[in-house]
Amino acid sequence: MEKQYVRALFNAIAFRYDLLNHLLSGGADLYWRRRAVEHMRKLQPRRILDVATGTADLAIAALRLGPLEVIGVDIAEEMLKRGREKLEKRGLGGTISLRHGEAEHLEFAEGRFDAAMVAFGARNFENLDLGISEMHRVLRPGGMVLVLEFSRPRLFPFKQIYLFYFKRILPLVGRSLSRHGHAYTYLPETVLRFPEGADFLTLLGRAGFTGAAEDRLTLGIATVYTGIKPASPAAAGVSPSPGGP
Ligand SMILES: C[S@@+](CC[C@H](N)C(=O)[O-])C[C@H]1O[C@@H](n2cnc3c(N)ncnc32)[C@H](O)[C@@H]1O
Repeated sequence: MEKQYVRALFNAIAFRYDLLNHLLSGGADLYWRRRAVEHMRKLQPRRILDVATGTADLAIAALRLGPLEVIGVDIAEEMLKRGREKLEKRGLGGTISLRHGEAEHLEFAEGRFDAAMVAFGARNFENLDLGISEMHRVLRPGGMVLVLEFSRPRLFPFKQIYLFYFKRILPLVGRSLSRHGHAYTYLPETVLRFPEGADFLTLLGRAGFTGAAEDRLTLGIATVYTGIKPASPAAAGVSPSPGGP
């Protein structure tokens, strides 16, 4: 989706973003983020990047792992502003810092982070492959990528009930509370288009990650994807460029 459109959309709904998230998911979004960061516990990451951090809920969830620093980047200033207010209120500004930044052009050196994560942001990237490749670049060898994203339940009749809620009820509630004409129609559209399950694992492999795995949450409403940046490109099955060393 075009970046300007996405930025304008999230700037417009920022004032109601957290409330709508918790309301429309019945509070499950908080549990999903907590559960997602547990996938990084073994790694004990000290430096964590949160791409498309929004109002910093995933960055805050990651604090339970005791990192030295968490940096959140996002293209929507209004989302970052709400996030900074939240951090200030909770006294979390020491460990977490938020700044403007685009997933497709991360302004960090190669190998800067132990973990790079994104929650409910990847499906908004203008260029998904490039965003994931950038996360790969800024990770140290052995570092972990973690993507939490909506997915589509498969089980009858839950799938049918959920899709009715997602496509019919959610846009109505979203529209009336966010006062935004199409933000909550855009949400189901992007989720239904996003490459999920095996398709997303293939994408992680293409970006150079090994051991790509998925953890489907709440009957598949959301999924956590993880992968490891291997110590050498050969270990990832990526062949060196022709003429290279
Ligand atoms: C649905 S919100 C998710 C926010 C947060 N991660 C969470 O868990 O609630 C999606 C966020 O992605 C940001 N975003 C979309 N495309 C982006 C991009 N290309 N680079 C950085 N941020 C982006 C939006 O501005 C928005 O704040």
